Amino acid sequence: MIKDFEVTPWEVTGRVDYDKLIKQFGIKPMPKLPEKFQKNLLFRRKIIFAQRDFGRILDSIRDGRPFVVMTGLMPSGKFHLGHKILIDQIIFYQRLGAKIYLAVADIEAYNTRNKSMRELEETAIREYLENYIALGLKPEKCDFYFQSKRSDDWKKSNAYYKLAGMLASCATFNEFRAVYGEITPGKMVSSLFQASDMLHAQLDEFEGKMPVLVPVGIDQDPHLRIARDMSRRIKEFDFMQLSSTYHKFLPGLKGEKMSSSVEESAIFISDSPKEVKKKIWNSFTGGGGSLKEQKEKGGNPDVCRVYQYLFYLFDDDNELKVRYEKCKNGEILCGECKEYLTEKINKFLKEHRKKKETARNKIDRYL
Ligand code: TRP
Ligand code: SF4
Repeated sequence: MIKDFEVTPWEVTGRVDYDKLIKQFGIKPMPKLPEKFQKNLLFRRKIIFAQRDFGRILDSIRDGRPFVVMTGLMPSGKFHLGHKILIDQIIFYQRLGAKIYLAVADIEAYNTRNKSMRELEETAIREYLENYIALGLKPEKCDFYFQSKRSDDWKKSNAYYKLAGMLASCATFNEFRAVYGEITPGKMVSSLFQASDMLHAQLDEFEGKMPVLVPVGIDQDPHLRIARDMSRRIKEFDFMQLSSTYHKFLPGLKGEKMSSSVEESAIFISDSPKEVKKKIWNSFTGGGGSLKEQKEKGGNPDVCRVYQYLFYLFDDDNELKVRYEKCKNGEILCGECKEYLTEKINKFLKEHRKKKETARNKIDRYL
């Protein structure tokens, strides 16, 4: 059978149908959220669209009880606007008072991306951490670590690596295969480290038993499924089950998927105003044909990348609504939208780069 799309942690192909994924993965749509979530466009616009056991986190927030939000980053490739979607959530929860755990998945990257450890460390700090701080992450209120060096405190470090090792007894080879499809020893080790990333905050050496939320792109759900199974099965520890939320991907500018390795598919933080302009000018829109045709028939904002970039990245609901209507009615043309988006992104990038300079100084003190 030819699948029309496929989503695994290693590859995303085809046009993703998110409703189908909810059924396929056995996850739940987001529940009704309190007012403070509505202020964040990712929640308000349902870019974060599904969850497992998220109610536990909502309860903790309501009752003012502590919880952890944990994520990991792959230090490969350059930072692009798609990466912003995850870190904006982390910053949102940090401001709500969550304890943040941030893992650099250098062991995973080493085993699956074929880079040197030195290169990976450099990328993690210069590309990711600096951008995270520039976007608003407070590094001093965040447990930031590399999978290859968990902590200077040997008791903590031992506990993390011990857990990663022990979790291997909590899944069978066939389960790994069912969850990941094709597997290699490298992927298996990555999966064990990732499960330890997600679960170790609850060890006595860290925070003790408490709710842990792992917000991820929907492609990462297999990691969560297997970590949840392991968490349930491990006898030595009494973990609270993991909570997770799932977000949609910012689509690629040209066609279906965005990839750090396809230069024109993404806007990188390091892109010059000229590059941004060119990429947006060449992006895929829902308009088409001649000017006359578009004025008569209107465009299709639902498939338009320019529209989607405004939808995923910029806050003004009213502007968005007006543009949507005008596009459908043929009252605006793609050139105008492209210019508008280019300006918005370049303004954002300009301010961001200034903040990144400051972040760099902060990091040198922090590390
Ligand atoms: N596998 C993740 C990725 O490809 C990185 C990662 C490592 C991670 N440990 C994690 C993500 C823990 C979430 C939670 O991006
Ligand atoms: Fe997209 Fe604007 Fe063109 Fe409509 S008019 S298809 S929103 S670029």
